[in-house]
Amino acid sequence: MGRAVVGVAVTVAVATCAVAAVVVGRRVRSRRKWNKVASVVRELEEGCDTSVGRLRQVVDAMAVEMHAGLASEGGSKLKMLLTFVDNLPNGTERGTYYALHLGGTNFRVLRLQLSGQPSPNLEHDVEVERQPIPEDVMTSTTEDLFNFIASSLKDFIAKEPDGSNISQDRRELGFTFSFPVKQMSVSSGILIKWTKGFSIRDSVGRDVAACLQEALTRKGLDVRVAALVNDTVGTLAVGHYHDPDTVAAIIIGTGTNACYLERIDAIIKCQGLLMTSGRMVVNMEWGNFWSSHLPRTVYDIDLDAESPNPNDQGFEKMISGMYLGDIVRRVILKMSLESDVFGPISPKLSMPFILRTPLMAAMHEDDSPDLREVARILNDIFEIPDVPLKARKIVVKVCDVVTRRAARLAAAGIVGILKKIGRDGSGGITGGRSRNDMKMRRTVVAIEGGLYSKYSLFREYLREAVKEILGQDIAKHVILKILSLTTAALMTLPLSIFVRNIGR
Ligand code: BGC
Repeated sequence: MGRAVVGVAVTVAVATCAVAAVVVGRRVRSRRKWNKVASVVRELEEGCDTSVGRLRQVVDAMAVEMHAGLASEGGSKLKMLLTFVDNLPNGTERGTYYALHLGGTNFRVLRLQLSGQPSPNLEHDVEVERQPIPEDVMTSTTEDLFNFIASSLKDFIAKEPDGSNISQDRRELGFTFSFPVKQMSVSSGILIKWTKGFSIRDSVGRDVAACLQEALTRKGLDVRVAALVNDTVGTLAVGHYHDPDTVAAIIIGTGTNACYLERIDAIIKCQGLLMTSGRMVVNMEWGNFWSSHLPRTVYDIDLDAESPNPNDQGFEKMISGMYLGDIVRRVILKMSLESDVFGPISPKLSMPFILRTPLMAAMHEDDSPDLREVARILNDIFEIPDVPLKARKIVVKVCDVVTRRAARLAAAGIVGILKKIGRDGSGGITGGRSRNDMKMRRTVVAIEGGLYSKYSLFREYLREAVKEILGQDIAKHVILKILSLTTAALMTLPLSIFVRNIGR
């Protein structure tokens, strides 16, 4: 009897130990796999460091590179392109204006009636038609691209109501072209390179205004391409139309870039240029900015190497909407390879650009207690079902790290421009005056682009970083003005106005 009891007790003890060993083993394995994921996130966070000290180094590098790019052609990775635009609209313009806008994702045709009085609601005076750019057009031939654009304009004009007061004279057109162009005048310019996934080899080195003009003629349209400007320049002009203290414009959308008003005598590489106002808008093409101070991770290096334009647009690849989703995808893939917290490795995780930035933003901004949106997107896009809550939280953290870095770097870029033009409270890059002697003027920076206007956490991070870098006392004079999506469609407005002001 006693033996039997002891026997049972021993068996129970052994079984308990075995169960305990299994439980402990599972726990250890589980802890190990979460630790692996945690260390991927930790490394990402360290790699994406944007402490204020580092941001200030980026600010200085930006200002120095701006100087170098203005001093000589090829003096910096910042091209600092001349735009030949020196007059910005002020609201007294009148007439009917046409414009085309070729951006990164969308194409727009616009017509606008201006009365000669500043209009607080420009959106109401404009007719816009917007369509996504077909993917095959982005990689086809110059002729296909410009035929697509010309056909859209033809359809737009064909829909104009008979008997409207739209002038039937030869129409003049402004063309907002969101790629780097070396301008020869306000109405002509040679494409330097494509960005944002466009890749049409036979256009590089050609005058894009002339290409458009030929396509319009082929379609039998009596329309003259009278102005060619970068989208940043259009944005600056819209900003200026509403607020004359606007000194710079930034685009943070599919791509990113900045332009600003520069003194002619500071543009050393083009001495002798006569501009009536003594200033010129400079298109920085900041997407190509580079500095050793930029916090670069292995994910950025891989993304760059696998992109159609390696070693190019390094700043853009850390900031803009074309790329952020793909950085996050790469981190999730890495976590999935290191541990099975996301279940078996989904082949979808290896597909470049499958996670678009708007969906990444939706995961980041998911405020449901069980992160339902995150689970849905992981399931729909990557076909990873039933991701545990803890793993969903990690995905949100990854989105946060990637977005915060992007927004803070863009903020450093903006302060770099302010520093270059002496609006950062320090008296400019060469100025020796202390902050206290300076009287800070009201300084407006216009910002446009879906990433900024539709992603509130991005905006918050950017604004917070500007404050951190400049300090509250200076930052209160700097107004970051968001151009709403509807207003953004108007970015082509001013270039049509240039047609009247400068083009003739
Ligand atoms: C282009 C710029 C453009 C920016 C925003 C960049 O990829 O190089 O010219 O202004 O995107 O659209």
